[in-house]
Amino acid sequence: MLSPFIRPDWVPAVPPGMRILITGATGGLGRALVAMLRQGSECVIGAHGSGSGQDFEAAPGLIALRRRFEGDDDCRAVVDEFVQACGGIDALVVLSGSIHYTGHWKDITEAEWRREQAINLDQPFFLARAAMAHMTAQGSGGRILLTGTESAIHGGSPTSFPYAVAKRGTECMVQGMAREGAAHSVLVNGLRFGFIESGFHQRWHQRTPAQMAERAALVPLKRGGHVDEAAALMIWLLSGWSSFMTGQMIPLTGGDWL
Ligand SMILES: NC(=O)c1ccc[n+]([C@@H]2O[C@H](COP(=O)([O-])OP(=O)(O)OC[C@H]3O[C@@H](n4cnc5c(N)ncnc54)[C@H](OP(=O)(O)O)[C@@H]3O)[C@@H](O)[C@H]2O)c1
Repeated sequence: MLSPFIRPDWVPAVPPGMRILITGATGGLGRALVAMLRQGSECVIGAHGSGSGQDFEAAPGLIALRRRFEGDDDCRAVVDEFVQACGGIDALVVLSGSIHYTGHWKDITEAEWRREQAINLDQPFFLARAAMAHMTAQGSGGRILLTGTESAIHGGSPTSFPYAVAKRGTECMVQGMAREGAAHSVLVNGLRFGFIESGFHQRWHQRTPAQMAERAALVPLKRGGHVDEAAALMIWLLSGWSSFMTGQMIPLTGGDWL
């Protein structure tokens, strides 16, 4: 029997006035998070995109940011731009990520390997470090959410191996940064997503509807996750209800890989 997504009649919320920078907000998960925050919270959102697709329009409570990340300088710059625009930062959600190389890892070149690590491991570190420096200096604590993938704790797949290695590294980052941030009430956690129907698989792996259905059938709950299920979990992790949680990876998988 299918376990459908039954939309609850309440929307999770963050504290009023919370200043939240979301990198990769133009992606499938990012758009869902922005929409749910705007529906249920009175917060200030920095909605970042790389500029390759459709950017957000500036609106009350929404600052549109555009920057393609290459290295530390770009990551710092986007955090600084957000801090300048709204006078500080209370939360960073890193959803920027990609899979450019989809062949078997046996054939990957050094440059291709480094590119996967740069976007999925190096940049989340540079972003989180920059945000944590501001949060620590502010003295009012903060939240940092990074993104992993459930496949990474099972060795990844042959065609997403460098991505999985980077995401497993992100889990180490969550723990190490959480230990450092705890003294300053900067809580660092991560989401370990399974198969979420965000458009990611069609975008980077060119999956067809038939392949999407085949993949969903492998999940014990027999479907992909809905982006709003992921958004609600992220909002819970930004809210006061998770104030005793740090250094954790939270899986959202429909039972995948059990
Ligand atoms: N969906 C899933 O099943 C799943 C599973 C496990 C983990 N995740 C992780 O969850 C996160 C969000 O995924 P998603 O499904 O929302 O993916 P998505 O729709 O592909 O969105 C990716 C986002 O990253 C941005 N981005 C990509 N390369 C960039 C670069 N070089 N510089 C700056 N920004 C860049 C994109 O910006 P533009 O659109 O402007 O190019 C977009 O906003 C990713 O880290 C992904 O690895 C997703």
